[in-house]
Amino acid sequence: MHEAAPINPWVALAYLVAGICFILALRGLSSPTTSRRGNRLGMIGMGIAIVTTLVTHVPMETVGLVLEGPSGMVAAIGPVFARIDIVAIFEILAAIALGAVIGLTIARRIAMTAMPQLVAAFHSLVGLAAVLVGCAAYLNPGAFGIAVDGIIFPVSRIEMGLGVAIGAITFSGSVIAFAKLNGNMSGKPILLPGRHILNLGTLAAILGLVAYFTQDQAPWIFWTITVLSFVIGFLLIIPIGGADMPVVVSMLNSYSGWAAAAMGFTLGNSAMIITGALVGSSGAILSYIMCSAMNRSFLSVIAGGFGADDSGGASGGGEKIDRPWKRGSAEDAAFLMSQAEQVIIVPGYGMAVAQAQHVLREMADKLKAEGVTVKYAIHPVAGRMPGHMNVLLAEANVPYDEVFELEDINSEFSQTDVAFVIGANDVTNPAAKTDKTSPIYGMPILDVASAKTVLFCKRSMGGVGYAGVDNEVFYQDNTMMLLADAKKMVEDIVKSLD
Ligand code: TAP
Repeated sequence: MHEAAPINPWVALAYLVAGICFILALRGLSSPTTSRRGNRLGMIGMGIAIVTTLVTHVPMETVGLVLEGPSGMVAAIGPVFARIDIVAIFEILAAIALGAVIGLTIARRIAMTAMPQLVAAFHSLVGLAAVLVGCAAYLNPGAFGIAVDGIIFPVSRIEMGLGVAIGAITFSGSVIAFAKLNGNMSGKPILLPGRHILNLGTLAAILGLVAYFTQDQAPWIFWTITVLSFVIGFLLIIPIGGADMPVVVSMLNSYSGWAAAAMGFTLGNSAMIITGALVGSSGAILSYIMCSAMNRSFLSVIAGGFGADDSGGASGGGEKIDRPWKRGSAEDAAFLMSQAEQVIIVPGYGMAVAQAQHVLREMADKLKAEGVTVKYAIHPVAGRMPGHMNVLLAEANVPYDEVFELEDINSEFSQTDVAFVIGANDVTNPAAKTDKTSPIYGMPILDVASAKTVLFCKRSMGGVGYAGVDNEVFYQDNTMMLLADAKKMVEDIVKSLD
């Protein structure tokens, strides 16, 4: 007769403390002023969870360590050992060290602009880990304490089936998201005929098989769930077009959390359940917020390109035709801004590419010294990841009270002398409001066009933004194009202001 291993109160307490650290970490991340503290708390929580898991599952006598602790701790851990195969601490530490070196190297080398594809790659690993844990538990359920005489408990079969399914969807979906964001695959939606029926049918088949798995643990059921889930992950992400990729990345983040939580049940690890649930729910909330910001239906995006137009996506938004436009110099820009009462700076992806944030703050400081009010307007999907612009501006020590979200500043453009757009494009494109065929149609935009003067800094008239469409604002009478690398242009403006 199977007896559940007793829950060690010290282990439970340590996991609880880790969980509280994670919750406080999320709270800290809600504001730029507390985000560093939030990150530190997250690291402490993860440290506690890892050490607790190690001391719970690895007999320390094998490495010559003696567990010191309140009386009863060692005795209570004993039964846990009894149901876990002895694992080699050295193998685990070697794996942790290898992973840490790889993670550290990637984190130090990665360009800020490549962050979304890195995040997608990491999500794919979380999904794959969930699938592998599920497979291991299915193939050797006794080692996980989830079976008696080889018969897996029905509740464990549900956890395992769902965990493997969500993990596999996360894996293949994240691989496609990575390929799209990294430019290995076109960012345009790939719309298969009858895709809604195909997707719904596959999802229904997976859920049906998970239900059937509780009655019969035959290998064909388990492996069919796994394969179908890999396929549906792929099918759900290929129809999603460029402008919706930010939402998809945060959605996959959420899926990876749920996959980890499901595996936490299989492993009987409460820290994994708590962490997975936090990642899953915060990812879902972020996706919801981003969907609202982009004017997209949450359900459409989860369901996989339900909102995508069969007409083919990224063609709308105004064809490039020869039209008159005005070019300005750094001196013109410096003059106009120094004469202004208020300047609103609109940063975008190009500022990140040029790493112009430091010199931009220098420019703002000089303008402020001349009595000009300077504000920064941040679009929720400016750049290539949530909060991209906020991070860069914080790095350049831009005061937080000068940085405004779209809904808090949009009404101010019409009373503003100069909108200085630096490396942003899609987030200012009026086609999002007027052109139903545009891939960004429906997305709210920063109303730079209504400022008295728009200074638009980008490298060329030919370059387009992420959505690949032309921008009416370039050709407006009140627009002056500043064609140069953003950092070089702002450096020249600073010199002119001197
Ligand atoms: P984009 O629309 O991508 O426009 C970037 C602009 O920067 C382009 O006009 C480009 O023109 C210019 N640029 C590039 N390098 C430059 C440099 N060194 N100096 C000066 N200008 C430079 O950027 P955005 O307005 O920030 O919009 C973001 C887009 O990315 C949205 O469509 C959004 O949906 C998508 N997206 C966002 C995220 C998240 S979560 N933020 C994730 C994935 C995708 P030139 O080539 O002519 O210089």
